Amino acid sequence: MRLVLLGPPGSGKGTQATRLKEELRIPHISTGDLLRAEVAAGTELGKQAKAVMDAGNLVSDDILLGMLEARLAQADVANGFILDGYPRNVAQANALGELLGRLDQPLDAIVQLDVPTELLVERIAGRAKEQGRADDNPESVRQRLQVYNDSTAPVIDFYAAKGTLARVDGVGALDEVLARILVAIKR
Ligand code: AP5
Repeated sequence: MRLVLLGPPGSGKGTQATRLKEELRIPHISTGDLLRAEVAAGTELGKQAKAVMDAGNLVSDDILLGMLEARLAQADVANGFILDGYPRNVAQANALGELLGRLDQPLDAIVQLDVPTELLVERIAGRAKEQGRADDNPESVRQRLQVYNDSTAPVIDFYAAKGTLARVDGVGALDEVLARILVAIKR
């Protein structure tokens, strides 16, 4: 199963991907986590990405595609993967299509998690208190939501037009949301 999880910041992509990983026994690839690991390791890429991420903006498409290509070359994705945080604009969606076409590994499912904005802000504020992620401050959150509306929402239309998108209500208990995703991807 090759699955993409789409949704705004705080919609539960990472939370549900962690659960789906256990359920489906395939790796979770989070581009946000890959970037945060580069920042934590102090690599040149991490240094370039940090200020952009902290401000709530998108890191360059070239950096992301290179990172993703390297990750998809690893052996553990042979039976599939859960992609969380990519694609984030239509150029990335096209690049992903080309990359997976070359690898002869088309996507099986694309799930969009639907959560109202007030709840997104509330969830991220809760996480800010617990974890102190650098981009969870109110200003960056506003910018991340804006970037989502401007750049990532068109990706939803891109996949909807192809007829490959499943919309899932992301509000509710974690198990309920997981069950809805499992139903959606088995359709
Ligand atoms: P990324 O790490 O992808 O962050 P994000 O998209 O802003 O997503 P979040 O991690 O905030 O939300 P989530 O949907 O995963 O929700 P979560 O499960 O954590 O990206 C960070 C940055 O990296 C970007 O801003 C950008 O700079 C850069 N980047 C990454 N990918 C890129 C790309 N492709 N191109 C360019 N730049 C890129 O849940 C949030 C909170 O809600 C948690 O506390 C959780 O416990 C809680 N929660 C979840 N589900 C529920 C529920 N059902 N009920 C109650 N609480 C819940």
